[in-house]
Amino acid sequence: MTDLPALLDFVWSRLSHGVGDRTHPARHPTLATIGPDGPELRTLILRHVDRDAGVLELNTDMASPKVAQIGADPRVALHVWVPSDQLQIRMRATAVVRQGDPELFARLPPQVRANYGGAPPGAEPGPAPADEDPARFAAIRLTLHRIDALVLHEPRRRAVFAAPDWRGRRVAP
Ligand SMILES: Cc1cc2nc3c(=O)[nH]c(=O)nc-3n(C[C@H](O)[C@H](O)[C@H](O)COP(=O)(O)O)c2cc1C
Repeated sequence: MTDLPALLDFVWSRLSHGVGDRTHPARHPTLATIGPDGPELRTLILRHVDRDAGVLELNTDMASPKVAQIGADPRVALHVWVPSDQLQIRMRATAVVRQGDPELFARLPPQVRANYGGAPPGAEPGPAPADEDPARFAAIRLTLHRIDALVLHEPRRRAVFAAPDWRGRRVAP
């Protein structure tokens, strides 16, 4: 896999594995936002990939600080490291938060739905478990505009792909 289109295919195939395979490292990307005191990082579950649209989706709690951060500045980054492929994927995107799919919410296990209730993430915990609030179930839609792929297998290679043509160019690793 030496040509640029093949490398981009490789990246998208690994992102797709993250959605479909609970054990794949791309299942748990790190999302970076710009917070009031500087960068903020956290792990999220990758829920949906649409290569044609250049879109990734994650779920979160509307009451979590990252939602306000995205509202204040929608520029985000996402990071994935796939050890078995020696592949690092760094993505830049514009994020939009919207109401999550209520049918999907209803299908989530009770212990997951329970996360969408009570004190907001990062706040002091409430005295007792609170009822889940489906209105807090949110989807974060990331529209990618840059993908930086680094493969550490020899020969090492790194390329940057950018919207709208995603043709890509090689850069030094
Ligand atoms: C393995 C793992 C998966 C997680 N998945 C999610 C997720 O899908 N959505 C989410 O909002 N938080 C998820 N979290 C919790 C976040 O990392 C974070 O603690 C929480 O969303 C609050 O982040 P914030 O204070 O930056 O808003 C996950 C944490 C771990 C360790």
